[in-house]
Amino acid sequence: MKYLCHTGDRPFTILNVTDIHAKLDYFTEGNLEGDILRHTVKELTERCRPDLITFTGDMTTDDDREIYRLLAEYIDSFDIPWAPVLGNHDNQLGDTEARAIGEILMSQKNCLFDVGDPVLGCGNYTVGVKKNGKPLMGLLFMDTHDTFDVPMCDRTRSSWGEITKSQEAWYREKVAEMKKEGFDSSLLFVHVPLYQYTSAAEEIFTCDLESSEEAYFDYPESYIKKNDAFLFGINYEGPSAPLRDNGFFDVLAVEDHTRHVLCGHNHVNTSSVNYRGIRLTYGLKTGVGSYRRDHLNGGTVIEITDGGFNVRHEYVNADACKDK
Ligand SMILES: [Fe+2]
Repeated sequence: MKYLCHTGDRPFTILNVTDIHAKLDYFTEGNLEGDILRHTVKELTERCRPDLITFTGDMTTDDDREIYRLLAEYIDSFDIPWAPVLGNHDNQLGDTEARAIGEILMSQKNCLFDVGDPVLGCGNYTVGVKKNGKPLMGLLFMDTHDTFDVPMCDRTRSSWGEITKSQEAWYREKVAEMKKEGFDSSLLFVHVPLYQYTSAAEEIFTCDLESSEEAYFDYPESYIKKNDAFLFGINYEGPSAPLRDNGFFDVLAVEDHTRHVLCGHNHVNTSSVNYRGIRLTYGLKTGVGSYRRDHLNGGTVIEITDGGFNVRHEYVNADACKDK
């Protein structure tokens, strides 16, 4: 486990960015989408003064190592530790290419990424945050892969990636290590939402809002049927989660250590809900690459204190660059 040591009274602040989907021309001077990304990340870092930047996947769609190198150099230029997980697009060319991407990330001075054991995928690793020398919070970063085939009744269907049984064993081992070292709780970062994001949405919301334009930042009251579980945000589409429950969430519940899961993947979902004692949050999409809604641009902030953690989205106006 790598460690980050925090001092002082200020909460340990994590800024999460997600689903940037950068293109090569983002790094050409004067490119508007690149300017929007740079404006967004700069604004977020100045506003939130993060101690760690996390990145919940999909750095690009374009299978180009040069984009990964340029984006990694850009994030690293803030001189703040950063910890990414791979998204389905980062995994789309298979294990060998994913590890090559991982090596590019690891070559950056401030990047905490670890390609890890290939049996687990690419990029399963842990970070321990200490405050004034004492354990404050464990952070787990796990690969949710791309897609896989799952037998369903009489046919095979393609499902979004899931945490495998090998990873489940790794998770148990890492949590045991954290408990032994005095880390009483942890936060989990993934790209594809866990199956329970779907269960939670079905339980808490009356429907998704694909066809509705009436909601903006928050649900109208009529969309929420379980108020005590809803915290904030909106789902404009149903969760693109695995088709089956393979039991990993039950492991989280039994281990009773991970308090919060942050994912990316659904670019137009920002909900944060409590489900069976664990908080499930979507990271707010960063930048204007790939599908999106105009007003959903920014990042997600997690502030960790001695007593727990707070989560919120920080919005940045992407149009600010267009007027310049
Ligand atoms: Fe994405």
